Amino acid sequence: MQDSPLDILILGGAGRLASSLAEVWGKTHNVTSLGRAQLDIGNADLLAATLDTTRFDILVNGAAFTNVDLCESERDAARLINATAAGHMATIASARGARLIHFSTDYVFDGSLDRPLTEEDTPTPVSWYGKTKLEGEELVLTADSRHLAVRVSWVFGPARPSFIDAILNRARTESRVEAVEDKFSSPTYAIDCAEWLAPFLRPGTPGGLYHACNSGSCSWRDYGQKALELAAAAGIPLATTDVGGIRLADMKQFVAPRPVHTVLDTSKLARTTGITPRPWETALHDYIQTRHASISSAN
Ligand SMILES: NC(=O)c1ccc[n+]([C@@H]2O[C@H](COP(=O)([O-])OP(=O)(O)OC[C@H]3O[C@@H](n4cnc5c(N)ncnc54)[C@H](OP(=O)(O)O)[C@@H]3O)[C@@H](O)[C@H]2O)c1
Repeated sequence: MQDSPLDILILGGAGRLASSLAEVWGKTHNVTSLGRAQLDIGNADLLAATLDTTRFDILVNGAAFTNVDLCESERDAARLINATAAGHMATIASARGARLIHFSTDYVFDGSLDRPLTEEDTPTPVSWYGKTKLEGEELVLTADSRHLAVRVSWVFGPARPSFIDAILNRARTESRVEAVEDKFSSPTYAIDCAEWLAPFLRPGTPGGLYHACNSGSCSWRDYGQKALELAAAAGIPLATTDVGGIRLADMKQFVAPRPVHTVLDTSKLARTTGITPRPWETALHDYIQTRHASISSAN
């Protein structure tokens, strides 16, 4: 029997992850998506008034101050968006008897452990972004045991260009492209994330902290290299199919420190939902086929 559609309200709705959640969940649920232009979540009064007058069974926070370097200089704004506003949402959703699905990051870890990180591992962020995201997830999780804080990493998807789109676009015209070879994580396909989190739209699935990303791990260089190989196989014309390696320490333009090893272990998600995320390479293949190969053939 088909479950009845839910009312899902998504804030920060124009974001890379939020747009894909709206796209997928909108096929079976009543999704209202508000971007920053409709609702600035940093305005506490407006946030409360909007939530007060909007129906929702599930509230999704896709909004965040995601520019890791800018967070270092705009500390108050980063904290307001990544922590304080998330806390307000958690309190309001709780009072309404609704679940909040909030997103956090692998950057809550310091990156010193070279093994997949579980929800039990102690977060010790090295950047202001990571610190504010950690504070945000703590505010959400202490407000209500129904709420969810979902740590994702290296998000890619159709709504907004990411690292992978930048590498592909450069490789179309430049004979040499490079990416960091000594920083490791797991890519997260935004479309897949909607499928992994679908069980949490129902109240029976327990809330709490979850890691959610595609399976496997890679460096930024491996990730870019795979993208070029998949793009070449899909017939996309490229000026190069090789990604050269550069060291994290040589990325002088980075203002905030970056953690080195932040591969997320998703076994709690699998135990809870029965869903094991597919390998990142398979997800990337789908993305390149649907996004880049179709654009290329249209040109
Ligand atoms: N991208 C990654 O690789 C990555 C990695 C780990 C964790 N995450 C987490 O995943 C979640 C989703 O990130 P994403 O990749 O979808 O990032 P994104 O594309 O940058 O989306 C974030 C959205 O938040 C909006 N926003 C910022 N300030 C706002 C405000 N004051 N009021 C309302 N909306 C506001 C942004 O609007 P504007 O576009 O107008 O600024 C943007 O649409 C975030 O919690 C992020 O911390 C992302």
